[in-house]
Amino acid sequence: MTSPLPSSPAASVLDLAPVVPVVVLPDASDAVPLARALVAGGLPAIEVTLRTPAGLDAIREIAAAVPEAVVGAGTVITPEQVAACAAAGARFLVSPGWTDVLLTAMRGSGLPFLPGVSTTSEVVGLLERGVSEMKFFPAEAAGGTAYLKALASPLPQARFCPTGGIGPDNAAEYLALPNVACVGGSWMVPADAVAARDWGRIEGLARAASYLRTAGGTCR
Ligand code: 3PG
Repeated sequence: MTSPLPSSPAASVLDLAPVVPVVVLPDASDAVPLARALVAGGLPAIEVTLRTPAGLDAIREIAAAVPEAVVGAGTVITPEQVAACAAAGARFLVSPGWTDVLLTAMRGSGLPFLPGVSTTSEVVGLLERGVSEMKFFPAEAAGGTAYLKALASPLPQARFCPTGGIGPDNAAEYLALPNVACVGGSWMVPADAVAARDWGRIEGLARAASYLRTAGGTCR
């Protein structure tokens, strides 16, 4: 199938897709069929986390074998990981939080990146450093839609990809907010489906999530 996404690096992670699956893979040999299922379900932007030792190999395999996917790296917390992910073919970087050291490395990679925030001061800190697009993590635990709504008035220039505790029941509520461009989550990649290599189930969950693109007509 043809990817609706640009083949050149996106300027922004937030422009890739309204829903980004967050993948935790125990076995890199599952990476390619999993990525194909997500793409077939309509979710081509995929965040593979570095939380398992298989993460980096999974990124490498998807980048090489599934060109219609836009594979990124998640849970990136060190400059060494930034370099390794870029070398593996990651097309974007996501971190759960940020430091100046990490920001410098992410900027230096030339890849679009999404640093994580969970407080107002962290948002202001990123704006001060010229970064206006960020991951809001852990979204539900850190205040959810009420928190993001409250930030929209004083800090309208900040745009978010909330992640953490988001699922089919609350994703549309996030996507309807003016300062939310996309949401991330693992709900379409359940661990038991991955363990069972049930790619059909994952494709179906991805397809249902991809319909959120038009829910409420507010997605960009
Ligand atoms: C993330 O890695 O960004 C989140 O932990 C994913 O959160 P979820 O599993 O609650 O969707």
